[in-house]
Amino acid sequence: MNNIYLVGFMGTGKSSVGLRISREIKGDFIDLDKFIEEQENKTISDIFKEKGEPYFRGLEKNFLKDVAVKKNQIIACGGGIVIDPDNIKLMKSNGTMVCLTASPDVIMERTRKSNHRPLLNVPDPQEAIRALLADRQKFYSQADITIDTSEISIKEVATRVLNSLPKD
Ligand code: S3P
Repeated sequence: MNNIYLVGFMGTGKSSVGLRISREIKGDFIDLDKFIEEQENKTISDIFKEKGEPYFRGLEKNFLKDVAVKKNQIIACGGGIVIDPDNIKLMKSNGTMVCLTASPDVIMERTRKSNHRPLLNVPDPQEAIRALLADRQKFYSQADITIDTSEISIKEVATRVLNSLPKD
């Protein structure tokens, strides 16, 4: 099986859906942010704090390349992976790029309680969500498949992803 890359904004369910799909089809699941944290022995928040966002983007790009070498994987990516066109090119050439979406209100509700996302750990997270979504729309829209997760369960999202994959 070609890799399945789950992309999309923070709080759209990439990690939960990825894990669920991997169990259903017995593929390997990789959460790219967790992988980066393990390799660097630091949380994403600490990487942002100590080295800044551009440094994190460099790590994200390099680890994506490393991970993409293997097949049969479901890879949940960080929400900002799409801002580098090389990453999009790699994902699309080596698998299926699936974008999960959700409405700004749903994203706000799902991300409200956690404080591990540096880009939303700001005085006005609602405005940060609005601005980032507007900036990134042109990147997310390049996905092969897009699924709105706002009103459906993780199980249902996983089923829809699996039903939409190209048959090869
Ligand atoms: C980011 C999303 C995060 C993480 C980092 C930056 C982004 O991942 O990679 O905080 O730029 O959207 P999740 O989408 O898994 O929260």
